[in-house]
Amino acid sequence: MATSKGKNETVTLIDNVTGKKVELPLMTGTIGPKVIDIRRLYGETGYFTYDPGYTATGSTESKITYIDGDKGVLLHRGYAIEDLAEKSDFMEVCYLLLKGELPTKEQKEKFERDITRHTMVHEQLNFFFRGFRRDAHPMAIMCGVVGALSAFYHDSTDINDPRQRMIASYRLIAKMPTIAAMAYKYSIGQPFMYPRNDLNYAENFLYMMFGVPCETYKVNPVLADAMDKIFILHADHEQNASTSTVRLAGSTGANPFACIAAGIASLWGPAHGGANEAVLKMLGEIGDVKNIKPFLERVKKKDGTMLMGFGHRVYKNYDPRAKVMQKSCHEVLKALKVKNEPLLDLALELEHIALNDDYFVSRKLYPNVDFYSGIILKAMGFPTSMFTVLFAVARTVGWICQWNELIEDKEQKIGRPRQLYTGADKRKFVAIGSRK
Ligand code: SDX
Repeated sequence: MATSKGKNETVTLIDNVTGKKVELPLMTGTIGPKVIDIRRLYGETGYFTYDPGYTATGSTESKITYIDGDKGVLLHRGYAIEDLAEKSDFMEVCYLLLKGELPTKEQKEKFERDITRHTMVHEQLNFFFRGFRRDAHPMAIMCGVVGALSAFYHDSTDINDPRQRMIASYRLIAKMPTIAAMAYKYSIGQPFMYPRNDLNYAENFLYMMFGVPCETYKVNPVLADAMDKIFILHADHEQNASTSTVRLAGSTGANPFACIAAGIASLWGPAHGGANEAVLKMLGEIGDVKNIKPFLERVKKKDGTMLMGFGHRVYKNYDPRAKVMQKSCHEVLKALKVKNEPLLDLALELEHIALNDDYFVSRKLYPNVDFYSGIILKAMGFPTSMFTVLFAVARTVGWICQWNELIEDKEQKIGRPRQLYTGADKRKFVAIGSRK
């Protein structure tokens, strides 16, 4: 099949087998590559497209986030991630993602008030945790508990009611830190900490994580700022695997809590959000700068070893979030008076060697958001198993915005990819006694 661009922003596909031509419309976004609308393709040609991993397939229109992977650009509602990380805060970014505009002072105050009204979880949920083993991975707990929220908040599960959708969205953003901190407290056998609504989102999360009822917890402003920045940097990233999972689940009409639980499950994998945990494990295994080269040789031999925290489906340049994260990492370690952090030295050297090695250069493999985040989180006192949970807390706003956009999009249908069948052709059933 040959392709050629027509005059009226269409693409003509010519079937070299039958000679038949089909003209398909080209769609144009605000910025970014044009998109061929292939919805009529099967009807007119009898062909499906084949694109495992959706490397060249757009599944939706979206107004939320834009990435230029070649230039290393990330915009939320048109604002550069560097500006948001530097000049904004997480609540403001949540508002921006949800509503499309930065809030005025009054709008922001009201939004924060509304979110903090939902920070507690149903008291009965405390008992739900007891069903888990104490050594359960916190991501396993997150999948279960967030999935169970629809059993507690069925008054906000009618997806056709905009008000219920909004309440569910606020509930999810507000309760995720509470549930995440509870998962941690449960694993170390400490009592759950009720949220404190006089603290901001990041401060309250640190308080619920590291405070105990018998002592006054003093929030370290450096840690709270770093936490807030980490939340901003993870807030949304257009149609990544977990967001696409949320959208696919949402396309069936499933309730928002169930959809976000699906997103959490998808995020857990080491190729996606689980990479921040995997980076620390990898750095621990490398152990010393002298072991970097042999480690990279194993990666290059493709014996299954991957350079975790490197590479990205969309970025073929620096992930802009990794740059902010690297800078923040230095600031946090300095503020915490950590003079020598061997893991950071190791990560910097690993990055330097990889970025000068033809294997990684030719494949355009750069550090992604997960490469430095684990080092900051470790310095802040988070156990490795909580790293992906923090990603999930931050990404909840992105997931829920994308879910809302899906529900409001009249063009969306149930997500249902097709396939290239390569199994057996139709055959006759043979009774068990006659089988050889
Ligand atoms: C996130 O999509 C998003 O937006 C995700 C995310 C978000 O905010 O939502 O940005 C968050 O998930 C970041 C990515 C975290 N994952 C990791 O750090 C795990 C390590 N990275 C890889 O597994 C990988 O790079 C992916 C999964 C991130 C991207 O995979 P692609 O786009 O399918 O790329 P590919 O597997 O086709 O790789 C192309 C080539 C291959 O070599 P060749 O077959 O061409 O010889 O690059 C190689 C790969 O083997 N390669 C790597 C590598 N990543 C790709 N080689 C060594 N180490 C790596 N990390």
